[in-house]
Amino acid sequence: MKSFLLSSLLFSTILAGVVPRATEKVDYHGFKVLRLELTEKSAKVEAKIEELVAHVLNPGTSSVLDVVVSADKVKAVSAFAKKSTVITEDVGLALEGEGGISAYSVPSETWFTAYHSYADHMQFIKDLQASFTSNSEIITAGTSVQGRVLTGIHIWGSGGKGSKPAVLFHGTVHAREWITTMTVEYIAWQLLTKYGSDASVKALVDKFDFYIMPIVNPDGFAYTQTNDRLWRKNRQTVSGNSCVGRDNNRNWSYKWEVTGGASTNPCSETFKGLAAGDAPENKGMMAQVTSLRDGKGLRLYIDFHSYGQYILWPYGYNCNLVVENDAQHRSLATAAAAAIKAVSGTAYTYGPSCSTLYATTGSSTDYTDVVGNATYSYTYELRDKGNSGFVLPVNQIQPTVRETWAGVVSMLKSA
Ligand code: ARG
Ligand code: ZN
Repeated sequence: MKSFLLSSLLFSTILAGVVPRATEKVDYHGFKVLRLELTEKSAKVEAKIEELVAHVLNPGTSSVLDVVVSADKVKAVSAFAKKSTVITEDVGLALEGEGGISAYSVPSETWFTAYHSYADHMQFIKDLQASFTSNSEIITAGTSVQGRVLTGIHIWGSGGKGSKPAVLFHGTVHAREWITTMTVEYIAWQLLTKYGSDASVKALVDKFDFYIMPIVNPDGFAYTQTNDRLWRKNRQTVSGNSCVGRDNNRNWSYKWEVTGGASTNPCSETFKGLAAGDAPENKGMMAQVTSLRDGKGLRLYIDFHSYGQYILWPYGYNCNLVVENDAQHRSLATAAAAAIKAVSGTAYTYGPSCSTLYATTGSSTDYTDVVGNATYSYTYELRDKGNSGFVLPVNQIQPTVRETWAGVVSMLKSA
């Protein structure tokens, strides 16, 4: 009996090693986060590092790279850097400290004290809308690779539905950036629940039509909860290649073809796709942007990401170009950064995205600026600066959403 048990156990272990089940979750125990200081910005070196590591956390040829790496590859990876610092000793332990995913509760402020499942986020948006039926409706923007509908909420004020310039917010385009889902939902929550009691919120809701999408990469987000907490891209395949996922923030149809700001390798974190806009999520988002442009026009677009504490504006594809209203972009960003700092002391850096952070082609904000003719287009990179990175502990959700709300309100007042 004993030996039978042992051999059947052995057998199943071997089987599991040969044919990993589709639902098997990546175990990050024993993995470290390293911050690598490279001698120069080089796409070649980054590509080599990318082959060795489990994930690059801030892909895009920066001279400082944060990577997740298994213990046995730390040496090999560190050899590419002039300096390498351990940011997280054990990613598995950090994930345990993240707080897990909580059970569903109807919309209330306690929603923002935990992370939630994809299904519960959808329920939250539906319940929120159902509580404010006279000035909100559920909106959609196309369908993901796996058939999930990109779902959000449209909020309007006293002028009536669709009467004002559009403000568009996107969250969770990068699947692992969970704090952005919470932040975008908090903005919708504040606008609706404070409309009747706070004159300054009412003024904003009466001034714009808000189109708020908490999760624009639903497949990737679901995958971070079932398989790999640190997944970034969508879940689209390339025929003849076993690597999965396009980077939706490199797939927009503006300057997509320019080289240097994305990868043509399907295995890379910044894979741009085989053609401009060939990710279904991007088709949906682009149709949304052009329809708002053709309606009352797009006044403000914000794409919420984490991490790094940046406020960025176009262009991503060229570091020498500035937008015609660069000074106005800077003025709103300066005020927003000050408003954030006043809440909590959190310091943000701001500037045009290519020159401030790194080059990106086919990114959202270049598209909304030029094709969408938006007056203002920003990328926010929320908390933190890499200490927790994407795995921001639950006790930082409320401080983050509150400070970011202050920054967004400041922008809305001047936009
Ligand atoms: N971290 C984001 C990304 O890699 C931000 C890019 C900011 N640049 C931009 N052009 N929007 O996609
Ligand atoms: Zn991102």
